[in-house]
Amino acid sequence: MEKKIVVAIIGCGTIANSQHIPAYLKNEDVEIKYFCDIILEKAEAAVKKYGCGIAVQDYHEILKDPEVDGVSICTPNHMHSIISIDCLNAKKHVLCEKPAAKNYEEALKMQEAAHRNNCILNIGVVNRFNNAVRTIKTMIDHGELGKVHHVHVSFRAFRSIPGIGGAFTTKDIAGGGVLIDWGVHYLDIVMYCMSDPKPLTASAEQFCVLGKDIPNYIYTSMWAEDTRNVQGVYDVDDSITGLIRTKGPVISFIGAWAQNVNVPESYIDFLGDKGGIRLHYGENFDLVVSKNGSLIQSTPIFKSNHHFIDEINSFVDNIKHPEKRLPSHIDTVIITAKMMQGIYDSAASHKEIKFKN
Ligand SMILES: NC(=O)c1ccc[n+]([C@@H]2O[C@H](COP(=O)([O-])OP(=O)(O)OC[C@H]3O[C@@H](n4cnc5c(N)ncnc54)[C@H](O)[C@@H]3O)[C@@H](O)[C@H]2O)c1
Repeated sequence: MEKKIVVAIIGCGTIANSQHIPAYLKNEDVEIKYFCDIILEKAEAAVKKYGCGIAVQDYHEILKDPEVDGVSICTPNHMHSIISIDCLNAKKHVLCEKPAAKNYEEALKMQEAAHRNNCILNIGVVNRFNNAVRTIKTMIDHGELGKVHHVHVSFRAFRSIPGIGGAFTTKDIAGGGVLIDWGVHYLDIVMYCMSDPKPLTASAEQFCVLGKDIPNYIYTSMWAEDTRNVQGVYDVDDSITGLIRTKGPVISFIGAWAQNVNVPESYIDFLGDKGGIRLHYGENFDLVVSKNGSLIQSTPIFKSNHHFIDEINSFVDNIKHPEKRLPSHIDTVIITAKMMQGIYDSAASHKEIKFKN
């Protein structure tokens, strides 16, 4: 019998329990040997719930175990680079949740550590494993939209700031707000589907407005944890807008965790001279193409898939075949980290930023 791939989960919170752990458990080639959380009770609860593994509080214990092949890093953003680099230096393959890191500089250090140690570093840009997104990429690659000149991205909720005052709204921990948390997925889809057009300039503005007065923030839902009674920090973007020029299409975007318009939007428009696509984020897409003098509108039906399961299975397969490159490899995702840095730098300085190289 082939040896199982041995993995460890670092950070036993929402995404680990909802996606990573169930997906590993479904994969017969995998053994989860460790559950690690800085709050030991969370790691112990996972051992009890899933009936396997050892609970540890300090991830360094995992690094000492030569049996561990790979780790899923599911901690808040500020620990992504620190834990990833330590794991890579210990020759463990890494699947680190998105965003790669709090900022571009940290993401570059992670990339360097992956190269130096000749280990895999994949980032949890899970939409690259979504069949709707893959289908759009194939259509754009095959020229079905013609020349795509503009991509518009909207990720706007009504009143949906996560865990106000907690990790998500504290810049030192999260690195940013709605852009780094939601926008990262949207920009990543754009770059993937458009085959990474080189970014040239970014011009953006960000707003830390609606959640600033934490006790008086009115909301309809609060995901992550409900921290309404926490005396915490709120210093990130609750909304953001801007424009990125690239060697390919112009990318315009507007994002909001909270806004005073109750019309949530969650889509990406790919606008080409022969056709256009509206991707409804996490769902299907609508297509318009001009053909034989007519405009044909359609909503394709394709094989839907569970993209988190695909992501985890692909990581496990990647550990068996490290020579393969997944679309979520740090070398592809790094461009989104660079763009987000440019957006935040432009917003902070109120000036257009020119990207180097
Ligand atoms: N791919 C997606 O769509 C998606 C969705 C949700 C969250 N995420 C990402 O996953 C990460 C975690 O988010 P979450 O919602 O699960 O947060 P969470 O707060 O529910 O879980 C994080 C866990 O990490 C633990 N932790 C913190 N520091 C640690 C350390 N040094 N060592 C070990 N454990 C530590 C915390 O105690 C907590 O249990 C974030 O980076 C987030 O952006 C991705």
